[in-house]
Amino acid sequence: MPVTLSRRQFLGTAALFLGTSCLKQAWSASSHPPLPIPPLADGRDGSLLDLQIQSGEWSFMPGVRTPTLGINQSYLGPTLRTRQHSTLNLNYHNRLDEGVAIHGHGLHVPGSLDGGPQLEMAPDAQWQPALPIVQPAATCWYHSHTHGRTGYQTYHGLAGMIIIDDALSDSLELPDQYGIDDLPVIIQDRTFDARGRLVYSLEDAGEDGWLGETVVINGAISPLARVPAGKIRLRLLNGSNARFYIVTFADNRTFHKIASDGGLLTAPVPLTSMEMSPGERCEIVVDLSDGQTARLLTLFEDLLDAEGEGIIDDILSVMGQSEFSQQEAALTLEVDQSLRANRAPLPEKMATIVRPEESEIKRTRSFVLTMDHADSHAGHKGHAAMDMGINGQAMDMNVINERVKRGEWERWRIRADQGAHPFHIHGCSFLIEQMEGETVPLSQSGWKDTVVLDDDDWSSVLVRFDHRATAEFPYMYHCHILEHEDRGMMGQFTVT
Ligand code: C2O
Ligand code: CU
Ligand code: CU
Repeated sequence: MPVTLSRRQFLGTAALFLGTSCLKQAWSASSHPPLPIPPLADGRDGSLLDLQIQSGEWSFMPGVRTPTLGINQSYLGPTLRTRQHSTLNLNYHNRLDEGVAIHGHGLHVPGSLDGGPQLEMAPDAQWQPALPIVQPAATCWYHSHTHGRTGYQTYHGLAGMIIIDDALSDSLELPDQYGIDDLPVIIQDRTFDARGRLVYSLEDAGEDGWLGETVVINGAISPLARVPAGKIRLRLLNGSNARFYIVTFADNRTFHKIASDGGLLTAPVPLTSMEMSPGERCEIVVDLSDGQTARLLTLFEDLLDAEGEGIIDDILSVMGQSEFSQQEAALTLEVDQSLRANRAPLPEKMATIVRPEESEIKRTRSFVLTMDHADSHAGHKGHAAMDMGINGQAMDMNVINERVKRGEWERWRIRADQGAHPFHIHGCSFLIEQMEGETVPLSQSGWKDTVVLDDDDWSSVLVRFDHRATAEFPYMYHCHILEHEDRGMMGQFTVT
């Protein structure tokens, strides 16, 4: 019997997401570690940024050294900062003893600079892409995209954030002091063994991908950031391999979503909770001028009923009363009155987003994400027993699945035959028309590069590619559950 529960199906037990491993118990007895802020690698003036892909050891828990991968450090990499109309000059050096490809997720750059699996660096090889940044301000990221190894390498730490600024983002009075009131927040789930090593196995991953037990933020468990008593911008990145989260605050406070994957929304959208799928970015602003401590929760959506707001409230109230409420905050924001606060009101108007007219849409393509049980007896054993693909075909580096014309709007319709999947397209931002068979919510109405599908319901996006991708260096579209991707739920396309 298949073990997958659709995310719309009901959760098992709230206790599960409290993730009680012995190591974690030991940890919760002590205080919160400080939120690690990845160093800023400032490429705004076009200077060459050196990125050493390396192995190392990182302490997720005090006194425990965990073997990891990272970029210029033991786990994760620096935050790369760039600007619209400049060139982001990178120099990757692969210091590992296996091949690595690093992709700039969300960047609108030609296929030859995209960092897909064709651009794998052999051990000790370097790759020096000069990325022309033409797109507007956004929070993007970079991560491993090595053929068949994306899940393993990303899980061990090959990922980092990219921040793009532009004239509009400069002119809006949004919090922008990096590491002070403008915080990178990379959300990941990890499982540790009794010795504190990361546990990962593509073969043993369930149908929903590899789900970790413990949430880590920028590589720390339940960290704390001391922030000014004003507006705080969180650049949330779901950098997990497979986990969908409901993001909310423990006191149910209202926050404003200001940007989605591809940049600023037209106006801030007030929310008290939101879903984040793997690969997705959401910039939010939370107001701490009341001086109260705010606890950010990242609830495991697979253990909640996605449509049952009431159930989320129940769990929150249970958590609020229990000693777990502190332990379970993914991130605690504590006010420090001595820090300079941004108290400017949120802008009423931000980006201008022009949707194409129906007459401009030249072509429709349909994609069905498939997971077939190769053998019903082995069906529940994990991915190894399943054939994953898109439109019945598994990823083949030698096959170009789609050929797209540059500069033309297209409608891409996507659905899955089973389960929830975050679909991602390289080389573009798109506009969601329909999500899971329903009209797009306001909070998802901006530029995106991931869209969620659930079971039979179609999602559809309007997309246009402005850069070239040749058959030698094609773009990818794929499920961003990395175990699905590594198992073949991916396709290649050219833009000419
Ligand atoms: Cu973030 Cu092709 O991936
Ligand atoms: Cu991508
Ligand atoms: Cu998938």
